[in-house]
Amino acid sequence: MKFSLGLLVLLACGATFVVADQDYEGYRIYEVTPSNAEQASILHQLSAEGFDFIGQSRLLGQPSRVIVSPGQLDKFLQLVKDHKMIHSLFNSNLGASIAEEFVQLQMQRLMNPITGKGRLSNERYYSHEEIINYIDDLAQRYPKRVYVKTVGWSYEKRVLKTITITNGDGKFGKKLIFMDGGFHAREWISPAAVLYVIDQLVENFQENAYLLEDYDWVILPLVNADGYEHTQTGTLARMWRKTRQPYNYLGQTCYGADPNRNFDFHWNEEGASSNPCSDTYAGPNAFSEPEAVVVRDLMHSLSDRGIMYLTIHSYGNYLLYPWGWTSDLPDNWQDLDAVASTGAEAIKNATGTVYTYGSSTNVLYIAAGASDDYGYYAGFNVSITMELPGAGSIGFNPPVTRIEEFVTETWIGIRAMAEKLFELY
Ligand SMILES: *[C@@H]1O[C@H](CO)[C@@H](O)[C@H](O)[C@H]1NC(C)=O
Ligand SMILES: *[C@@H]1O[C@H](CO)[C@@H](O)[C@H](O)[C@H]1NC(C)=O
Ligand SMILES: [Zn+2]
Repeated sequence: MKFSLGLLVLLACGATFVVADQDYEGYRIYEVTPSNAEQASILHQLSAEGFDFIGQSRLLGQPSRVIVSPGQLDKFLQLVKDHKMIHSLFNSNLGASIAEEFVQLQMQRLMNPITGKGRLSNERYYSHEEIINYIDDLAQRYPKRVYVKTVGWSYEKRVLKTITITNGDGKFGKKLIFMDGGFHAREWISPAAVLYVIDQLVENFQENAYLLEDYDWVILPLVNADGYEHTQTGTLARMWRKTRQPYNYLGQTCYGADPNRNFDFHWNEEGASSNPCSDTYAGPNAFSEPEAVVVRDLMHSLSDRGIMYLTIHSYGNYLLYPWGWTSDLPDNWQDLDAVASTGAEAIKNATGTVYTYGSSTNVLYIAAGASDDYGYYAGFNVSITMELPGAGSIGFNPPVTRIEEFVTETWIGIRAMAEKLFELY
């Protein structure tokens, strides 16, 4: 392990308190850098008091980002002053940034309409429908190597489809990599990165055929289709993270559960919430969310051949492996570590971007009921959560001009992890 426990606190993947669609007009984002354990614990306490931390774990000396509402501002500034915490203003009006991004999204849709045929560019983010059309089109154009299957429906009845990519040699029973994206609605770069992996394996087949020699790849590009679409409906919905199934709580309706806390493995023990209005709501019971059920059923149907499960999130530059529910490590943790460290090293070599790797609990915080733990438990020998780097005014919104840079870098890491996997299994 490359990090000491206890120095690390708080949340990755932006677990927050966004109760409903929200107007962020006048909200600020601050970066705060804890330089000792006391400061880290004060920040941790703030998150329990309703301050909304986004992105990044809280390594000492590394900045965390926190959303501060106009009503919280005085308290926040007093606190960082009293404790002499290093801080700086990162965004002076989150609402304005979200509004600006929304206008750009609409313009990109008009300027780059999808043709429905051929290779996708990395010029913009795509809708659920566009993603489905794209993989359907691939299956039509490459019937020997590509197979698309309906694997279920979201709560709001959006179709969920996997794309299976082979080298077309017709051999059955190969080992297999199962990959997914878009668990968390606002992490738009995740499905974008997954689409690029699909592009590389299918359209750039000559160069990447070796990755399909002994392994098939099964990919579910967008797990939380409802949440993802919701984040694109308007500025108030941009920060949405969960699914969209309604739940009643003390007479009000709060929507969705965190699909990455909804798996039935140490479900809701720690690092998840029982409050339907929380952003890390585990659900009323395990597998309450149809999207998580789809992933579970895929895992069980694939696990006899499945060697690696890989799930793509943002943000924070992490490669994480089980366990997430305990600080214990699985028996073959050295293999998991070898795969993760190879991905990190390949990316570092290629672009200089630094990824931190290790077991979820030891790098971040305990979060039970996540899909990576479940995948490992279901029989995948290697299970990895990849948190892509953050960018843009919110962190979850790399500008469209940088999508290409992010997805190509991610691909370098994924390819290197696959190569390491092939050495080991
Ligand atoms: C990274 O670069 C070093 C030095 O050139 C090399 O030895 C190593 O194999 C590279 N690692 C990966 C995973 O590409
Ligand atoms: C992968 O894991 C399964 C289930 O734990 C195990 O039976 C199998 O031997 C492992 N495969 C390899 C190649 O180690
Ligand atoms: Zn996430």
